[in-house]
Amino acid sequence: MLLLNDEAYMKLALQMAESALGQTGINPVVGCVLVKEGRIVGMGAHLKRGHGHAEVLALQMAGEEAKGSTAYVTLEPCSHYGKTPPCSDRLIEAGVQRVVVATTDPNPLVAGTGIAKLRAHGLDVSVGVLGEESTKLNEAFNKFIVTRMPFVTMKTASTLDGRIASKTGDSKWITSPDSRGYVHTLRHQHQGILVGVQTVIADDPLLSTRGDLPAVQPVRIIADSLLRVPLGARVLTEQDCQPTILLASTQAPAERRAALEARGITVLTCGDGPQVDLTLAMQQLGEREIGSILLEGGGRLNGAMLERRLIDKLVLMFAPKIIGGAAAPVNIHFDGFAKMDDAITLDRMSVEQFGPDVCITGYPMYKS
Ligand SMILES: NC(=O)c1ccc[n+]([C@@H]2O[C@H](COP(=O)([O-])OP(=O)(O)OC[C@H]3O[C@@H](n4cnc5c(N)ncnc54)[C@H](OP(=O)(O)O)[C@@H]3O)[C@@H](O)[C@H]2O)c1
Ligand SMILES: [Zn+2]
Repeated sequence: MLLLNDEAYMKLALQMAESALGQTGINPVVGCVLVKEGRIVGMGAHLKRGHGHAEVLALQMAGEEAKGSTAYVTLEPCSHYGKTPPCSDRLIEAGVQRVVVATTDPNPLVAGTGIAKLRAHGLDVSVGVLGEESTKLNEAFNKFIVTRMPFVTMKTASTLDGRIASKTGDSKWITSPDSRGYVHTLRHQHQGILVGVQTVIADDPLLSTRGDLPAVQPVRIIADSLLRVPLGARVLTEQDCQPTILLASTQAPAERRAALEARGITVLTCGDGPQVDLTLAMQQLGEREIGSILLEGGGRLNGAMLERRLIDKLVLMFAPKIIGGAAAPVNIHFDGFAKMDDAITLDRMSVEQFGPDVCITGYPMYKS
């Protein structure tokens, strides 16, 4: 039921924004609802980078009725000339009376100036309605716009004892179809998927989105210091998905690099080795406007990324199975800390269930 209050209209705007997660690239997802005299007169969501902003689309729908209306916007209206003219100007010109904003825009080009402009023109502006929800929705954008580094979500699918394959390397399947459906949604919502070369050698994955419905395909990224990836691997041969990017070091053989580049594969040089400098790799991917990455293992790359504090969010799926095996790969493999006090803990943890599997989501808190 839609209660006639600010939160209800903002919720509607947030739902529209959320529906566009995964299709706006490095842009935020934004929703806008225009309400006049108790009636919704316009709605809009930003659906694609370079395309209309949520406020503009809602104003177009409302036409003359925008005059005297209240605009509910999930993110502060922009005030700068980007690929489109500033939305704060458009709201002012259309005669909108009141603007309710969920959160200010962390983009240094906006950061409060949109709200200041609206107020300077006499509009009544309220800020912070469902602000937490809106901040979470744009967590990747919020990081990228300030640091130019991708927001990295580590996803693992393991047994209860943390194994991501058996001692013989069998890994199909650990989790249920319901969990795997969620993983495909996660892939759709990130711009890139990252795995270690050992996973490519072991599983020959396609790393594409294959849910029940068509979805946006992320760029496939492989950490492969010496370019050991087999030339027949499906990530290289099946190019109807997004392109593949290999992260290598200067120690990779030049002829191997040339052979891969001749096939249209992008190779980024990330440090002098022996292994890929992962911080440099993330910087280079950020420069290529990859603002969100789903890290899908294996355990060694997961561990290395965590050690370097490059992980922003963890999605840990556990199937109710125990497989054991000292040689079986684990979900997060690294040297480890000596003291329990040094452990990385999870902030804002939540637990969901997908079929029989348990999924723990949280944000790592690194000790200084
Ligand atoms: N259940 C699941 O969800 C799941 C998901 C993925 C994988 N798996 C399983 O996991 C196993 C593979 O895991 P894994 O831990 O052995 O390998 P991995 O993490 O996939 O790959 C590790 C490799 O990444 C390369 N790498 C490049 N830069 C690195 C760096 N800075 N730090 C660490 N590694 C770097 C290294 O090879 P170079 O030095 O040659 O570059 C390293 O050997 C497979 O059995 C696979 O089936 C399961
Ligand atoms: Zn705008």
